[in-house]
Amino acid sequence: MVLLPCKKYISKTSSLTKLADFEIIQEFIDDELDSGEILIRGLYLSPEPSLRGGGLEGKQLSCHGDLIPGSQVGKVIKSRHSSFPLDCLVFGHFGWRDLTKVKISEENCFHDVYKLPKYFDKIPISYALGALGGPGITAHCAVEKILEIKSGGTFVVSTATGAIGYLVLQIGKLKGCKTLVFTSTDEKVIWLKTLGAGYIFNYNKIDPNQVFQEFAPEGIDFYFDNIGGSFTYNVMKHMNLNGRIAVCDAISCYDAVTTVPFDYLQIVDKRIRLEGFSIYAYDEKTWNEAMNTMAIWVMEGKILVEERVLEGFETLGQAFIDRFEGNVVGIQVVRI
Ligand SMILES: NC(=O)c1ccc[n+]([C@@H]2O[C@H](COP(=O)([O-])OP(=O)(O)OC[C@H]3O[C@@H](n4cnc5c(N)ncnc54)[C@H](OP(=O)(O)O)[C@@H]3O)[C@@H](O)[C@H]2O)c1
Repeated sequence: MVLLPCKKYISKTSSLTKLADFEIIQEFIDDELDSGEILIRGLYLSPEPSLRGGGLEGKQLSCHGDLIPGSQVGKVIKSRHSSFPLDCLVFGHFGWRDLTKVKISEENCFHDVYKLPKYFDKIPISYALGALGGPGITAHCAVEKILEIKSGGTFVVSTATGAIGYLVLQIGKLKGCKTLVFTSTDEKVIWLKTLGAGYIFNYNKIDPNQVFQEFAPEGIDFYFDNIGGSFTYNVMKHMNLNGRIAVCDAISCYDAVTTVPFDYLQIVDKRIRLEGFSIYAYDEKTWNEAMNTMAIWVMEGKILVEERVLEGFETLGQAFIDRFEGNVVGIQVVRI
């Protein structure tokens, strides 16, 4: 038996707002494996914003001293599972750690750990954390399953430069929609122009009601909502009959001390379908369809990928904070 050193991040608070809230500790993992177990060396990790909002499907931070949850791409360095041979690449919700021993079982197989599909021979493996991973699957499910966009329509996307938002708007464009997208700074507006994002607005400089009256007088058919709060309240006023809203998250509510009124009458009068969703409620077939479609679009150049790669396990805490300070467009990953 050999004891292998493993670095991992634990939380010192549940708020994770500053570097001092993170701590790196070392532990040792013995390299002996039981049947069905694999040992994985982490290669890329993505600091996920849902940690702060309470998490999705039990992946939240529960208390002080916990391993910080998160997904990663890694390589199998020792295996006693025939479907996960030595050197194969895997995606897993292993948390912020650089070495993991895991038993593959029916419970964790797929949503929590899976082998990367063959097409990753032709695509950077870090994309398994972005356009071809959680953000890509979320974007695809929002458009296909919740908004059910077939072709055309007026489509509003909040958080248009986020890891999910920039994919959602590109899928909307592929579906022939007129897109109105919103972001927080002029620099991000310029970046969105390079993406051909449609009508682009800095929400800190506009009145959303004026924008919708001027640029979407026909009304809004679809809204991808990541933000909640007053922005959503205003979008609702301009929705069309039978409009659809996919509620992916409510970032504006994370640290909010006041709540914004919710306009029930808009929902009833316009027969709006407002639906919250979680990708963890979808099965393996749906995930594979989403990943395969995203892979084809990326390989055909129909979806552009924007990835900021930071170097080193020690940069993870800062990478997480950067996402909340609005310094990132697209997906941020850390090569560990
Ligand atoms: N429903 C699901 O199944 C599902 C699955 C995965 C993730 N999610 C959730 O979806 C949300 C977006 O994920 P993501 O990966 O796209 O996140 P991200 O890359 O961090 O993007 C979030 C974007 O939100 C915008 N934003 C607006 N107000 C903000 C604020 N107060 N603080 C921080 N950012 C703010 C920023 O863009 P601007 O500067 O352009 O405003 C930022 O780029 C997350 O909250 C995540 O938990 C949901």
